[in-house]
Amino acid sequence: MAEFTLPKNSLVGKGKHFASPGAKAPRQFKVYRWNPDDTANPRTDTYEVDLSSCGPMVLDALIKIKNEIDPTLTFRRSCREGICGSCAMNIDGTNTLACTKAIDEIQGEVRIYPLPHMPVVKDLVPDLTHFYAQYASIRPWMRTQSVPRPDGERLQSKEDRAKLDGLYECILCACCSTSCPSYWWNGDRYLGPAILLQAYRWIIDSRDEDTGDRLDNLEDPFRLYRCHTIMNCAKTCPKGLNPAKAIAEIKKLMVQRRSL
Ligand code: SF4
Ligand code: SF4
Ligand code: FES
Repeated sequence: MAEFTLPKNSLVGKGKHFASPGAKAPRQFKVYRWNPDDTANPRTDTYEVDLSSCGPMVLDALIKIKNEIDPTLTFRRSCREGICGSCAMNIDGTNTLACTKAIDEIQGEVRIYPLPHMPVVKDLVPDLTHFYAQYASIRPWMRTQSVPRPDGERLQSKEDRAKLDGLYECILCACCSTSCPSYWWNGDRYLGPAILLQAYRWIIDSRDEDTGDRLDNLEDPFRLYRCHTIMNCAKTCPKGLNPAKAIAEIKKLMVQRRSL
């Protein structure tokens, strides 16, 4: 593996990193830093990036910073296409995906923080252990008791398939849950918008045969009913989804089955 050499103008560990004097389009990025092995915690470091030699998205700038200025900067990314959800972070005050957020859309200094109200593993990497445990708790797979067709398929009409639109696109980036005040204060017990949207995705799937059990699992003052329709989740979702609507639909189903 090639050895990384710090550039001459680097001030790694000193908090400020300026672009070289010849930079055509310098732009400042202020980035949250936290390192379990460091004493200078937490802090923000400022990096000046020459945008004339950088891709258009915030993730491009972060990769450039890591490759050319400060290899200690830590963040998650994978697809660079808005599909994997791993680059979710708080950019310019909004939870979003660094790979689909254009630098151009931001005025002045670009402020980058990890997703709010989550434990931090390092720098921009939140600890999603609890989030994924909550996801596992809804048992997010098709549950059936009946015997499938001989070819193993379970068919669905076009109309029933259309009910999954606005749900199946969720990439579990956690932008919505970490923007939800109810999740901030009750995240230990409230499932939050992302997981509830996923729960509804299975409840409404015509092929699933465990709807009653799925609703039982949510019938709890905390798991479902901490949503107060504040709508931060729908405002922030980088995929344009509306978790608050999915939550409202679950609540409606709860009422309907009580009146049966
Ligand atoms: S609903 Fe949107 S913001 Fe929430 S996890 Fe899914 S894709 Fe991310
Ligand atoms: S609508 Fe519900 S889930 Fe969405 S941000 Fe508000 S309280 Fe949270
Ligand atoms: S890198 Fe996959 S969503 Fe941004």
